[in-house]
Amino acid sequence: MEQLKQKFQQLFGSEPTGYYFAPGRVNLIGEHTDYNGGNVFPCAIDKGTYAWVRVRDDQQLRMYSENFSELGIISFQLNELTYDKAHDWANYPKGVIKMFVEAGYAIPTGFDILFWGNIPNGAGLSSSASIEMLTGIVLKDLFKLSIDPIAMALLGKKTENLFIGVNSGIMDQFAVAMGKAGHAILLDCNTLHYEYAPVALPDEVIVIANTNKRRGLADSKYNERRAECEEALAELQTVLPIKALGELSIDTFEAHKHLIKSEVRQRRAKHAVYENQRTLKAQKALSEGNLTEFGKLMNQSHISLRDDYEVTGKELDTLAALAWEQEGVIGARMTGAGFGGCTVNIVKKNKVDDFIKNVGAAYQKEIGYAADFYIANISDGAKVLI
Ligand code: GLA
Repeated sequence: MEQLKQKFQQLFGSEPTGYYFAPGRVNLIGEHTDYNGGNVFPCAIDKGTYAWVRVRDDQQLRMYSENFSELGIISFQLNELTYDKAHDWANYPKGVIKMFVEAGYAIPTGFDILFWGNIPNGAGLSSSASIEMLTGIVLKDLFKLSIDPIAMALLGKKTENLFIGVNSGIMDQFAVAMGKAGHAILLDCNTLHYEYAPVALPDEVIVIANTNKRRGLADSKYNERRAECEEALAELQTVLPIKALGELSIDTFEAHKHLIKSEVRQRRAKHAVYENQRTLKAQKALSEGNLTEFGKLMNQSHISLRDDYEVTGKELDTLAALAWEQEGVIGARMTGAGFGGCTVNIVKKNKVDDFIKNVGAAYQKEIGYAADFYIANISDGAKVLI
């Protein structure tokens, strides 16, 4: 914190006035269900993005990220809020400012801002939603805007969809903006109805394992999966009066899946429907203290993402399969968009060291490079620190 403050002074020539934090998120279950109008069950984590800020009295915005120091200070004016490839990471905060302005929030002046984050980029832990919601909380605080965290999350999603060009759902921004320490959020993405669910892990911890295989959402098959689901939905809508795959029970889906004319699209829709039901079951199991059942559902989620949705790949499958073999593992699955990134594992505390050692060594042998492991604590959403 002090080092970053000094860096700010060195770069921008004056003391910063505010310090802010936004977490990353890990999704426990409910993958690729958000844009299908289903349920998700994410939580905010204690890895995230920090920012030191100072408001200016002109229209200039100056942004610097300690994670991309080679790109230096990125500057633009408040009336130049357009996507610029050369501005790289700064397009995320820039896009959020643009969405705030377009939504009618008054941003009268520019500001200087220094970012630093400890979420690995492109690892499926929402580094982009983190910087987006961090920008949101900075704008709210600097300009005394009256905006609630859900409205902020919706503007973050709009930034991804319209400014960055990724057709993502609401899960990441919602979890980052609305996170609560010790709780996961059961969110119905159809209605945005949500409830906080205590995550009681007396003898277990959440271990995130990073394949270190990066993926870029924009160039991944993410948008393709989304389009496949939309097509399957349209085929079902020829008979069923539904607005989203998330509205379907397993029985209704099974009775009507023949309407979906391609085998591939049938599997995509099957995942969306079954995963949604699995998420509800998992939350119920957790609330009843049945961790074993919760873990089984996590494993089933991975298998469905591997076989029906096809968004895993060798690295994620290897990490999950290795985890399933270890003693003390309650459940393990890929988390986030997939195609690389991380798995989430619930592991007995007294087995964590063995877990990391065994899975780490076998992964290195099988894949040829190392995985990383982090213990995740469930944290609060985006907030003002100073
Ligand atoms: C990414 C997207 C989310 C969600 C997940 C998959 O994280 O940003 O909206 O679709 O993938 O569950």
